[in-house]
Amino acid sequence: MSVIAEHAPDVKITIVDINAARIEAWKSDNLPIYEPGLKDVVEKVRGKNLFFSTDVEGAIREADIVFVAVNTPTKTFGQGAGMASDLQYWEKTARNILAVSDRSKIIVEKSTLPVRTAEAMASILNSNDKGIHFEILSNPEFLAEGTAIRDLEEPDRVLIGSAQTPEGLAACREVVDLYARWVPREKILTTNLWSSELTKLTSNAFLAQRISSINSISALCEKTGADVSEVAKVMGQDQRIGPHFLKASVGFGGSCFRKDVLNLAYLCEHYGLHEVACYWKSVVDMNEWQEKRFVLRMLENMFNTIASKRIAVFGFAFKADTGDTRESPAYYVVKELLAERAHPVITDPKAIPEAKKDLADVLDQVEFTEDPYEAAKGAHAIALCTEWKDFKALNWKKIYEGMEKPAFVFDGRNLLDAGKLKRLGFQVFQIGK
Ligand code: UDX
Repeated sequence: MSVIAEHAPDVKITIVDINAARIEAWKSDNLPIYEPGLKDVVEKVRGKNLFFSTDVEGAIREADIVFVAVNTPTKTFGQGAGMASDLQYWEKTARNILAVSDRSKIIVEKSTLPVRTAEAMASILNSNDKGIHFEILSNPEFLAEGTAIRDLEEPDRVLIGSAQTPEGLAACREVVDLYARWVPREKILTTNLWSSELTKLTSNAFLAQRISSINSISALCEKTGADVSEVAKVMGQDQRIGPHFLKASVGFGGSCFRKDVLNLAYLCEHYGLHEVACYWKSVVDMNEWQEKRFVLRMLENMFNTIASKRIAVFGFAFKADTGDTRESPAYYVVKELLAERAHPVITDPKAIPEAKKDLADVLDQVEFTEDPYEAAKGAHAIALCTEWKDFKALNWKKIYEGMEKPAFVFDGRNLLDAGKLKRLGFQVFQIGK
């Protein structure tokens, strides 16, 4: 929204949330999330045409267009638990919009939603006797964390789905015009509602599938002496395959991939497509196996026992340049280390506060420090889980000197210069090597 505000100075945008602390944080110098470049954009438009408020009803009443971006976590209860999306926040929001509106509006689905959610929303919103009409659009967000501002300023594409009726197409044109202020028209794609909802799930599923595919090959590389980075590089040169998203790793994390792939699989089951569901579910299974395999490799190489050994976990965020730890592979690694009764010491430049929340139930068994030298001091091994550039630039000689010998590095992101580390005396293990 702040990027839209930046490019559409005549449009007034009010961001509302029921969480007052969050809204206060957005108004302050200390934004509630870390995202490179975001603060500059927010500061440029805040108080001019971008406002933050807890007056949800007031903002709905005032608006011509409502973007709904409430969360749709994986359901933890009842039918579809562990796979389906929990749509209760979406439905509450729709009912709230209906209750306070006294004129027609465009409602834009920004959250990632199961296919045909718009249909359910339309039937709730348009079941009114106020004589007003709500047109539902789907405008899924493709930004990735850590590169959000760049992804928004120069998107590969913007997608807007609408009903193929005169009213639907007219609403679609309004939102197209908003993006067209800075996005070239040919990159703004319009489709029917169901294609738009489904495309978001399938885009994430295909991206996650690439990582699981290369991670499956990484296991084979470790057995055969092939080097997964070399294999990926050569494969990526084939234009039909392309070079991106082929980095083998300890596993993918983040709020989207696991959730969306499982949601896609659930959708397939719902429509009786069992084989299709199994195919996509295996993308998540491979990821879980890769996380587990990482710790097993540590165990095997550290003489089959890591009990009571200090292990420095370098990085807890699910990827670099974010403080977000949702579904982070580091979390699973720490849990597996604890199952082996090791003593993990976590270091991360941005994610320590979130890490403490995630590990609240085992706080007495883990340590946290922002100083990687401190984390590695007296450790038997380093498990690198996030590709923070800072880790590359450390004084590895100093780290080596502070560690127990033999000193192990398990580089779950293939970030470090293995040759250099080996010359310093480390035993180095990288993914797929
Ligand atoms: C993703 C999609 O990229 C984005 O389009 C969508 O809108 C939201 O979900 P995000 O979760 O922010 O974005 O991060 P992304 O960069 O996709 O990375 C996801 C995970 O995959 C991270 O843990 C990352 O480290 C890992 N990854 C990525 C790999 O292990 N190897 C790769 O080659 C690329």
